[in-house]
Amino acid sequence: MLYSKKIHLKKATYFLLISVTAFVFSCKDSKEKINLKKGQELFTSVGCATCHSLSGDKDKLYGPSLNAILGTKTKVIRNNKEYSFFIDRNYIKKSIIDPDYEKPLLFKSNKMPKPSLTNFEVECITDYLISINNKSIE
Ligand code: HEC
Repeated sequence: MLYSKKIHLKKATYFLLISVTAFVFSCKDSKEKINLKKGQELFTSVGCATCHSLSGDKDKLYGPSLNAILGTKTKVIRNNKEYSFFIDRNYIKKSIIDPDYEKPLLFKSNKMPKPSLTNFEVECITDYLISINNKSIE
C-alpha cells in the first residue's frame, strides 16, 4: 500500500516536472515569436523598408536588399581600407546601430541615417532579418 502510494507520488512529481518544463519552453517560444513580429513591424514603421527591399536584387532600392545577405561574402570600406568577410549576425546588428562604421563597397556613396532605436528594438529587427534570411537559404 505504502509502496504504491510512493510510486503514485513519483509519477505525480514527474508529471509536474514535465508540465512545468513544457510551459517554460512554450513561453520562450511565443516570446521569440512576439519579438520577431515586433522586428517585422519596426522594419516598416521606422522606415527601413523605404531603402531596403526584402525581395532580392531585382528590387534594388537606395540601400542593399536584406533578405539574402546572411552568410554571403561582402566587401566593405572602413577607414578608407577594404575588408572582405562573410556576413553574420554581428555585422547586421552593427550596420543598424552604427551605419557609418563601415559601408558595403557597392553602396559606398549612399548614406544610411543612424536610426534612433533602443537596443531591444535593434535586437528584434536583427532577429527578424536573420529569420527571413534563414528562410531564403532553406
Ligand atoms: C535612407 C535610406 C536608408 C534607411 C532609412 C535605412 N537604411 Fe540601411 N542602409 C542604407 C544604405 C545606403 C546602406 C549601405 C551604406 C551604409 O552602410 O551606410 C545600408 C546598409 C544597411 C545594412 C547592411 C547591409 C549590407 O548588405 O551590408 C543593414 C543590415 C541595414 N542597412 C539595415 C537597416 C535597418 C534595419 C534600417 C531601419 C532601422 C535601415 N537600414 C534604414 C540605407 C538606408
